[in-house]
Amino acid sequence: MTRQGKQQLEKTALLEDAVRISRLAGKLLKERLLTDFSVDHKGEVDLVTEMDRSAQDLIKQEILLKYPDHGILAEEDLHIQGSDGFRWIVDPLDGTTNYAHRFPIFSVSIAVANKNDILCGVVYNPVSEELFTSIQGEGASLNALPISVSKINSLNDSLLGTGFPYNIRESSQTNLDHFKEFALRTQGIRRCGSAALDLCFVACGRLDGFWELNLKSWDIAAGALIVREAGGVTTDFEGSALKMDGSRVLASNGHIHSRMMEVLTGDG
Ligand code: IPD
Ligand code: CA
Ligand code: CA
Repeated sequence: MTRQGKQQLEKTALLEDAVRISRLAGKLLKERLLTDFSVDHKGEVDLVTEMDRSAQDLIKQEILLKYPDHGILAEEDLHIQGSDGFRWIVDPLDGTTNYAHRFPIFSVSIAVANKNDILCGVVYNPVSEELFTSIQGEGASLNALPISVSKINSLNDSLLGTGFPYNIRESSQTNLDHFKEFALRTQGIRRCGSAALDLCFVACGRLDGFWELNLKSWDIAAGALIVREAGGVTTDFEGSALKMDGSRVLASNGHIHSRMMEVLTGDG
């Protein structure tokens, strides 16, 4: 078998494990949603629940059982270096504020990278049982059926997604300025509460674009790959390559990308 063939098989096997693990974590989150779990504050409006940590523990255990040499970067203070270049980038519960309020929109987001190259990703919503997946170079799927971005080509006809940073009360960068500008130029804006799902909604054409400030790599690693593999575009607000630190994320169907950039940079 060629080297390329081996790499494809490896990516497929990694995705299968990421899917299996995301389903296990999603099942746990769904089962506990209406139960009494504890909620702590990381900041004034930045919550963490007992279930963020339980889901992360489960994911960590499953990854290391099969891949003891792999690294893991996950939101709840988990950073394992690993020794062979592979790294799992995990948000065990994306949508914690929703979850803490029993608002049933949240996801498990898992990507696997080799060095900085994202090989595959999965975003799973256990309530709707929607599983978004992608393997680098092989397209993107929703529940195993291929998906693609929308064909909308004007801001005027578009539906966008966004979110607001947890430091909105302290920072001068609130995103309210961008929100207002887009609200006046589009058919509407949705604030779902899970950036990983927002990205997947761009990938499958439910949203035509998404922007947000101050995200983190675990919010976007899987979702951004899914957008690109569904034919969309991911950059920062100025159109440069998307930074995996998630500081200024712009994702779209490609057709409205430059118009979104104009609005975000104050030229629109
Ligand atoms: C948050 C969600 C939300 C976004 C926040 C994220 P968390 O992640 O993705 O949609 O607006 O900026 O931090 O804290 O629920 O994992
Ligand atoms: Ca998150
Ligand atoms: Ca989280």
